[in-house]
Amino acid sequence: MERDKFSRFGALVVIAGSAVGLGNIWRFPYMVATNGGAAFILLYIFFVLIICLPVMVAELSIGRRSRCNAYRALDKLSSAPAAKAAGRGFGLMYVLIPTLILSYYCVIGGSTVDYFLRACGITAHGGNGMQLLWTLIFLLLTAAVVAGGVKGGIEKFSKIMMPLLFIIVLLIALRSATLPATGSGWTARDGLDFMFRPDFSKLGFKSCLAALGQAFFSLSIGSGVLMTYGSYVNPKDKLFKTAGEIAFFDLLFAIIAGCAVIPAVFALEADPVNVLANNTDSRLVFNILPEVFPAMPLGKLIGAVFFFSLILAALTSSISQMEVPVSYLTEEKKLSRPLAVALVFVVAIAIGSACTLRGQVLNALDALCANWLMPLGGIAATVFVGWIMGFDELHDELSSRGLHKTGKLSSRIIHLLIRYIAPIGVLSVFLTQFFNLL
Ligand code: PHE
Repeated sequence: MERDKFSRFGALVVIAGSAVGLGNIWRFPYMVATNGGAAFILLYIFFVLIICLPVMVAELSIGRRSRCNAYRALDKLSSAPAAKAAGRGFGLMYVLIPTLILSYYCVIGGSTVDYFLRACGITAHGGNGMQLLWTLIFLLLTAAVVAGGVKGGIEKFSKIMMPLLFIIVLLIALRSATLPATGSGWTARDGLDFMFRPDFSKLGFKSCLAALGQAFFSLSIGSGVLMTYGSYVNPKDKLFKTAGEIAFFDLLFAIIAGCAVIPAVFALEADPVNVLANNTDSRLVFNILPEVFPAMPLGKLIGAVFFFSLILAALTSSISQMEVPVSYLTEEKKLSRPLAVALVFVVAIAIGSACTLRGQVLNALDALCANWLMPLGGIAATVFVGWIMGFDELHDELSSRGLHKTGKLSSRIIHLLIRYIAPIGVLSVFLTQFFNLL
């Protein structure tokens, strides 16, 4: 059977859909707010250019060249028995990581459903049992899209939802940034200044780690998703261009989300700087914004639309997480797609319900995946492409097997970044975290 292929626009929205997620809307704004505003954004761009973009190209190349699931990809592309065995070992890790991420991401996704219904005035606040119900609903939505298949489910869904998501967040940002002053002494303008005025004194080593970690999570690097989605990218598409556009769009989206959140907090909260500095986790989105929105003109409606956009952003990411184990199960274990989806669903809800009962489980899983497993996955992919696959094959892939005129010099630069700079950069983050832990 011929493997599904995304259209060019499809590949963009589907991969951007995986990248754009809760990471952009709740994590990026407070990271910017607490790490020197535009200074952090500049640092973030620097890391995306010299580390993340090369890793993205490496992972997408592995996927597209092997045209198979993340478990088999490295194995298929190597010839030495030791490399093949290591490839399968890492392949297993690439299937495990997104399954684990899905298991806690769906709990936060469930909260977006909960807050949306509350913002619409349909439900009131519930206890743990209710949280499990919202998680279940969110996971069911994810499963329904993935069960629809790569083209009929994932691509179709993303083609409609990503543009819609973009328009909604853009409109909310415009509303937020032009809010009138309310007498607290602060204005939306001050919020924009706070965000876009670089304060380099706030940039320390910790901010570097934060910026790189955020970039990794936000671009879904090292998780097996880019390999899996890469395997559906059309062999004729220009891979570097696609990766660049996705990284650009992810950043643009994060900045627009920042403009939706930060000016609103400034215009409507009495002590905005403190509020932003002291809500360095999901509290900004889940505790502060539900108070902030109703205070705006048309606030109830804007609040509901905002939480709806959060559901969309979370869904396009969770479907990418679910697709990785599903493609593994259908191709390697020969399960039908609905059965594979059902199996992943059961695993995710089992771990997810532990997360709803104990918040520490969720935090521990997040730390394990985002701080340890994803960087490790990123290093493995760059080492594979930089040292095992080699320059010629990478150049062949970047030029779509000779279809496009891709200069050898640009491939050379990308190869050098993949071979040396990216793994060293990621390794330094990795080791710093390791020693911090001791
Ligand atoms: N990139 C997503 C976000 O920003 C999260 C994600 C991580 C998605 C890993 C897929 C894989 O929220």
